[in-house]
Amino acid sequence: MSDRLTIALSKGRIFKETLPLLRAAGIEPTEDPDKSRKLILDTNQPGVKLLILRATDVPTHVQYGAADVGVAGKDVLMEHGGEGLYEPVDLEIARCRLMVAGREGEALPPAGARVRVATKYVNCARDHFSDEGRQVELVKLYGSMELAPLVGLADFIVDVVDTGNTLRANGLEPLEHIADISSRLIVNKASLKIKHARIREFIAQIADAVAAAR
Ligand code: ATP
Ligand code: PRP
Repeated sequence: MSDRLTIALSKGRIFKETLPLLRAAGIEPTEDPDKSRKLILDTNQPGVKLLILRATDVPTHVQYGAADVGVAGKDVLMEHGGEGLYEPVDLEIARCRLMVAGREGEALPPAGARVRVATKYVNCARDHFSDEGRQVELVKLYGSMELAPLVGLADFIVDVVDTGNTLRANGLEPLEHIADISSRLIVNKASLKIKHARIREFIAQIADAVAAAR
């Protein structure tokens, strides 16, 4: 039992970029999550299973021990708070930046002026603006944040930016940098104690694969 391992991942970018790291740890999924409707995928190792989740739900599953380990963006971890999680490896994948953005040519007003900010990162945004001494009204969204300033829902947004293409395509520009983001290996603290040898081995294999990819 103690060598069983449940790994929480999200589809798309994180799954694709984590695959080579898992392969280096000797783990190969037997199905492609983009083709299968299954949410628990088997792998070539009988004791190792993959849970396919929404990116924002990965920390919660690892926190509660539904999965022993997982891969989540630092943006998602900052927003979640990281309670009950150990974060041993920066996987150096899915790199981007968490930023404040607004309509081209429109700077943030002086602190004191009330602004409305749309984001799915309400905790990160609240912390960032409160460090600046700003009172902001936050509007929680679940996607397409770039639309909010165009339709008058908000003055500014907080979102991840990589190439900047999405901002540019919508007449927006980056204004403030909040954090550099990459995905992290996260581990349930109780699992680490109970399955110490198996999880330590997995962490070491993944860390080696990250170093080799550098
Ligand atoms: P959810 O489905 O929970 O809303 P999501 O749609 O943001 O999550 P993905 O788009 O797969 O999920 O992003 C997963 C992670 O990849 C993000 O948490 C972030 O760390 C990183 N990421 C997001 N967008 C980009 C991007 N354009 N370039 C590089 N990394 C990105
Ligand atoms: C993310 C994010 C931005 C975009 C930023 O969305 O919410 O909208 O990427 O990337 P860019 O600066 O390179 O344009 P999403 O996950 O939909 O990105 P995707 O288009 O790569 O799937």
